[in-house]
Amino acid sequence: MSEITAEFLAKKYHMLSVGEVRALKKMAERVPEGGTIVNIGAGSGTSALAFLEARPDCRMFTIDKRKGKLIAELSAISGTSCQWQENYRQIKGESVEVAKGWNTDWRFAGTGLIDLLFIDDDHSPDYLAEEIEAWEDHVRDGGMIMFHDYGTVHPPHAAVKAVVDAWMEKRGLRKILRERFTVAVPIPAWGRYLEQNDLDYYVQMLAEGKPFGFSRFSDGEWLALLGHIGQKNSNGCTFTLEVQDALFQVLENYHPYEHTVTRIAREKLGAEIGAFIEEYGIATEWTLGNVFEDAMKEGRLWPLINQLRSKRVMYVGPAYLKQIHEKFFRLVGYVEIPPQDAIKERDKIVANIIDMMAETDAEVIGFSGGHHAKVFIDEVWRLVTDQVTLIDFGSVWDGMLGVKSRKYIRQGAYDFEALFEKNIRGRPLDGESPPLLECANGLQPISFEKTSQPTLEDKRASPRPAQRGQAGLGGPLE
Ligand SMILES: C[S@@+](CC[C@H](N)C(=O)[O-])C[C@H]1O[C@@H](n2cnc3c(N)ncnc32)[C@H](O)[C@@H]1O
Repeated sequence: MSEITAEFLAKKYHMLSVGEVRALKKMAERVPEGGTIVNIGAGSGTSALAFLEARPDCRMFTIDKRKGKLIAELSAISGTSCQWQENYRQIKGESVEVAKGWNTDWRFAGTGLIDLLFIDDDHSPDYLAEEIEAWEDHVRDGGMIMFHDYGTVHPPHAAVKAVVDAWMEKRGLRKILRERFTVAVPIPAWGRYLEQNDLDYYVQMLAEGKPFGFSRFSDGEWLALLGHIGQKNSNGCTFTLEVQDALFQVLENYHPYEHTVTRIAREKLGAEIGAFIEEYGIATEWTLGNVFEDAMKEGRLWPLINQLRSKRVMYVGPAYLKQIHEKFFRLVGYVEIPPQDAIKERDKIVANIIDMMAETDAEVIGFSGGHHAKVFIDEVWRLVTDQVTLIDFGSVWDGMLGVKSRKYIRQGAYDFEALFEKNIRGRPLDGESPPLLECANGLQPISFEKTSQPTLEDKRASPRPAQRGQAGLGGPLE
């Protein structure tokens, strides 16, 4: 019986720590039976042996540009029970080149997508960035990329963290494990390539007077859609069957404005969302929806606020957001919605919005109203299509108004006073604010005439996803 194990090699060669060997093995356990593991950088064979020990059922490739290293790897692990592992293949080649040939090279032909990729070879920033780009498409959705030397302070490895962080940021990914210098980054089962438009894109649309719609589905909306009925979101709204139904209709109707999903929803619920979209054949195209929140957190909202200051903007939200009128830009009208269960009054609220829009000649309507906002936006879009810009701002103003509605606000990581100054560029509104035309829900007469479009009842008749349990989805919602 051999004494040579991955932990033994770790202690002998110091390429990885014993903790890192265990981390590799732990992550390898997530690979589906008979899956594919690719280890770039053979070195002393420590990482290869860790994978072979953990998952002898998997197909494993190690890649190294130096033959000598591959020989060293083989000799290091010879004598172990993995020596003649049938599924273990060594590839001599340069990482980016091997990645480029992944689908065509006879050595991997038919291998398909990778379940776990471990990158531990050239650590220079440019090469690593190129390497990630070359390999990431070969990793399956729901797979994993692990990196070594993340956070090492010594050059040239010191750049690994910055490159990996920039990639995660761009892709909206996050790491799930960090053990010394090893990090594991899961690739969500759905929506890996969601792109986020820049703030400039919306600023430009406003500047050019081109109406657009922007709706934001965060974890609360998805939990409701996925059938976690009875749970509450962060503002205390309960996910009812009515909410689920209404949101489902929004997706099923798919009006062609921008539907976005937030990072947190994708991170927490990516796999479930993917399965849901597939199961119900939802054709909606998605982008990433953190653009306003990101800009706010970085004090970059000014160009947007500047545009909004030049437009006739009305707002739909709970009472406390009327402060927007004096603090950020002027509003021509405000439709107040109840902080909870606004869905129950949806027809009346939508009618009030349309009414006020006509009365105020609004060019932009801002919305903040949790899952109700998506439903109102969709209804308004259906009724007025391209006449007005509809923006779901979510909780973007809350921190700057001192309202602790979200975890990131409560945690105190941001100086919202300073952010307020930056976001409005320290420029208060000049002149007197005109009186705000207000419409508290239920208090205003409604002059709105129903159209001959299908009624909500008609639309609700189509099947919706089943109610599911709440298991495994604790944690605060954003
Ligand atoms: C730090 S060692 C890998 C250590 C190994 N993971 C272990 O556990 O022992 C880095 C390896 O990457 C290889 N390498 C460097 N640049 C490479 C590239 N561009 N393509 C392929 N292999 C490369 C080197 O030859 C070296 O064997």
